[in-house]
Parts: sequence; C-alpha cells; structure tokens
Amino acid sequence: MKRITEILSEKVSKAFAECGYDEKLGTVSVSDRLDLCQFQCNGAFAGAKLYKKAPVMIAGDVCDVLAKDSAIAKAEPAAPGFINIVLDDAYLADMLRQTAQDKNLGVPQTGEGCKVIIDYGGPNVAKPLHIGHLRSAIIGESLKRLARACGSKVYADIHMGDWGLQIGLVIAELASRHPDWRCFAPDFDPEKDSVEPLDADMLSEIYPFASKRSKEDENFAAAAHQATFELQNGRAADGGVGGEIMRVSVADRKANYDKLNVSFDLWYGESDADKFIPELMRRLEEKKLLRESDGAMVVDVAAEDDKAPMPPVIVRKSDNSSIYATTDLATLIQRERDFAPQKIWYVVDKRQGLHFEQVFRCAKKAGIVPEQTELEFLGFGTMNGQDGKPYKTRDGGVMRLSELLETVTNAAEQKLEASAFVSGSERGETARRVGMAAIKFGDLINHRAKDYIFDLDKFLSFEGKTGTYLLYTVTRINSILKKIDSSQAATKGIYGDSERELVLALLLSGEAFANALEEKAPNYVCESAYRIATVFSRFYHDNHILNEQDEDKKSSWIALIKLTKAVLEKHLEILGIETVEAM
Ligand code: ARG
Repeated sequence: MKRITEILSEKVSKAFAECGYDEKLGTVSVSDRLDLCQFQCNGAFAGAKLYKKAPVMIAGDVCDVLAKDSAIAKAEPAAPGFINIVLDDAYLADMLRQTAQDKNLGVPQTGEGCKVIIDYGGPNVAKPLHIGHLRSAIIGESLKRLARACGSKVYADIHMGDWGLQIGLVIAELASRHPDWRCFAPDFDPEKDSVEPLDADMLSEIYPFASKRSKEDENFAAAAHQATFELQNGRAADGGVGGEIMRVSVADRKANYDKLNVSFDLWYGESDADKFIPELMRRLEEKKLLRESDGAMVVDVAAEDDKAPMPPVIVRKSDNSSIYATTDLATLIQRERDFAPQKIWYVVDKRQGLHFEQVFRCAKKAGIVPEQTELEFLGFGTMNGQDGKPYKTRDGGVMRLSELLETVTNAAEQKLEASAFVSGSERGETARRVGMAAIKFGDLINHRAKDYIFDLDKFLSFEGKTGTYLLYTVTRINSILKKIDSSQAATKGIYGDSERELVLALLLSGEAFANALEEKAPNYVCESAYRIATVFSRFYHDNHILNEQDEDKKSSWIALIKLTKAVLEKHLEILGIETVEAM
C-alpha cells in the first residue's frame, strides 16, 4: 500500500506539470502545523527562482488545479508560498478501509528485495551478561523486526565474543583452583572423560576475579594467554573445559534474551571466523595491502580527506595471533559467502566507531564485500543512572543483566498488585511483559546514539511517553471490544475532529515506519505509537461508542478502535514489546 505522502506527491507533481512547471517541485510532506492543515508542499519556493515568479503565484496556480481533485477538500496557497492541503473525509475513510484490508496493515514495503544481516547482542562468553548488553539487544531486535515488517529478508547474528582472552582467564583460574579436575590432566580425553559441570553464577564470580588477578600476577597472566592460545588453536575448544564454558554461557544468554523477547537466527561466534582467516590473509596479500609494522601485519586505511587520524588496521599481531579486527574481517568473508547481503548493520556501543570504520574500509579495499554493500555502524549511547553516570549497582559494581531484569519485573509486579484485572496466576507473566515494555520503550524512545537516564519509576508510569501507557491503551481497547460484537463493523464516514485526528494518526504511521527504516531509528515508531495512543484517548473521551444511537457512526467507531488496536499492536510488535490482555 502506498503512503499518503507518496500519493499526494504524485497528485501535486502532476498539478505542477499541468501548470507548465517542473513536476519535481511537487514533493508533499506531513504538515509541521497539523492545526492549520494536514499536508504541505514547499515546491513553489524553488519554482520562484526557476521561473522568476512570486512563489505565492505559483502556489495559487497549482492549487487551482488541485481544487478539481475530489480527494482534496482544500488546497490553499499560504503566504509567502506554501501549498496547504487538507484531504477529503471520504478519501480518508477510504484509505482507512484499505489499511484495514492490507495484509501489512499499511506498513510500507520499502525494504522489499533487500537482504540484511544485523549484528547485535555481541555478548562475550565467560563474562557475565551485564547491562551494557541491554541496549544492543533492544535496539538490534527492533531494527530486525522493523526491516522484516518492511519486507526485507533479515538475519539476526549474535556474533558472540567467544575467542578472546576472557575465556583463557577463566580456564586458567579454574585450573589454578582445581588442579585435580580431570579436564586439566594431560591425558584428558573428551571421548571418555567428562568435564566438571559449571554454572552461570560461578562464571560471573570467576571472570572479574581472574581479570584482576592477571593484572597483578604475571605467571597467571601468562597461563591465561597460553590457555587462550590453545583454545584458539582448537586443542581445548571442544569437549574440554572451554566447551563447558561455552555451553553454560550460551544457556545463560538464551535465558536472559528470552525474558527480553530477543532472538537470533544465527548463533555464530568470533571463533567461527577462524577458518576464514587464511583466506583473508591471502586476499589481503593478493591485493598487496599488507604491510609489516613492528613485527605485526597491518593494512593502511587512511584517506586523504580524513579529518581525524585513521590508524592502520592490525590484522596479525607480532606474536602471530589475530585480534578483533581480524575476526570481523574474516566474518565478512563468511557472510558474503553464505548470504551475500546488500546491507550489514552493526549495533554496538558507539565507542567502537573507529574499529568499525577501519574494518569497513579494509573490507572494501580488499574487495571482501562489493563496493555497493552497505556496511553501517549503528553506535548507541550509554544508559546512565540518575546521577548521569553509567548505571551501576548500589555498591558501585557493574549490574548483571539478569539482576536488572528481575528488579524491573518485581517493580512491575508491585505496580500490578492493586489491579483487579490481573489474576494471581497471570501476574508473573504480565509483570514480566509490563516490565520489559517499560525498559524497552524507555530506551527506544531516545535516538539510539544518545545517552539516557534509566528511571524505572518514570518508565513504569501509566502516564506520559511510556511503554506502560501504550500497553494500558491496548487493554482499554480490549475491554471495550469485549462488550460488543465488532465482527460486522465498517467505516462509513468521519464524524468529528478527534476522530479525524485518530484516522490521520493511523494513516501517518506508514510515514513513521518508512522514516524509521530509512534512518535505522526506532524512535520514530515510538513517537507514532505514542501519538496514536494519545489521540485515541481524546477520541474515546469525546465519543460514547457503546451508547451511540446512529448505527453508521457506531459501526465506524467500532471499526476505528479495532484498527487502532491492530495498528498499535503492530508498532509494539516492531519495538519487540509484547502486549497484555488486561492490566
Ligand atoms: N563482543 C563485543 C564486545 O563485547 C561486541 C561485538 C560486536 N560485533 C562485532 N561484529 N564486533 O565489545
């Protein structure tokens, strides 16, 4: 289904052409002042320069043509040269009926025919999942859903950090605490021997301990490096303690992501890129891009017009080991081979911007991905506490994600305690959904690149721009629909101002989805959902649907709230927010 601005742009372009002006001037946008008109075209200003004519004269000519169009109720030139447009109610009603029929519910298919890989989540194995991982999960999941809803083929790849020193640290610490474990014996045989079981709590205690120890104890640090080296060379990876760490970590990640309603199609890790490293080195060599620098192998990626320093990418260290950039480059070989996507988006902390710029430049230079492939770094800002500093636990430590999710769910449960609509057996699940909606919306309403303050009380409020308010709006519509038979309801017309505003808010959601995809910014979807909810509230306040005597009105209104619910739910689904029946 076409967006309204697309349809109107076609009409206005034709009108420009009919008056003898360039049709390119006819681009229509949603009005900045919805109180004055619904849509506007500013093409007459550019036309004035082209035709040496006052803009308001050009606007007047075009409006004369538009006046003949039955879809348009009013097209007026406004000084100094705007074209203000108001659509006819019958036309709006028709668009509304089309939206209700549309299998995509008016979500424009602007991503059709495009294959996208989204690299998000990115937790490191062995380290506990902490709140730094929250934003990547929330934003990445929403972008995945958005691109899918807009018609793209999307693969979500978790790209676990399973290749680095953190695992070596844990292995070395376990070996030092439990020298008697079979898995550390020189004759350990994964076929016959079993590995001592670990769990997530153990890992989250051991990692910070080992990390600290490695800074103070040289021998220990060397043991950790050795363990990492062995792991990277495949000796301990499968069946051994490295495998057990992986198993425990993955299970822990899955449990947390499940609570957040976040899921991945591909569970690859950095280690999966290992087998592509020889090919990477060969291709860099072939293109004569490799240069030796202090025993390391690097690729220069600086360009003449760089405003900031752009250091070369190190692809092999002097001790022959590979690093972060190497695995990201090798992963691109794998992605190109398996999927050949048009786009790859990386949802990672914005402090990693330089790393990705280096990797992208190197990948293009080496022809690992075609020139036209969109490699985009979607950096996100920090989630801060009330003090404006990165969110911490009460004693100043890094908060585990599981702890945060539990705190939020408990707070939501307390909030629901007073509700007569949630029975005891549903309370836990409803609280989880309300809590997750609160933190997801509280995050996504901000542009991803911005920092924001985590304020649970605010996020859980039933009023204001919150996920809670949106869930509550859906439950209000549920309770109305429960009282009536809505199966035959149909739009007959538009009967009032707040009703028209609601119709328009629903129809304009297509613009929000398109903008969100274009800019990879789910905050547009949040704003659109909030707008629909507030206008619905006004409409519902103004009209007594259940008591309405006029059958046409009543039927139209029921159809309208049914569609409001469906469209609002579509927004929430794209934000990765699960609705609740009642609250
Ligand atoms: N594991 C990394 C970290 O914790 C994030 C991974 C991001 N994705 C990537 N392809 N490098 O910082």
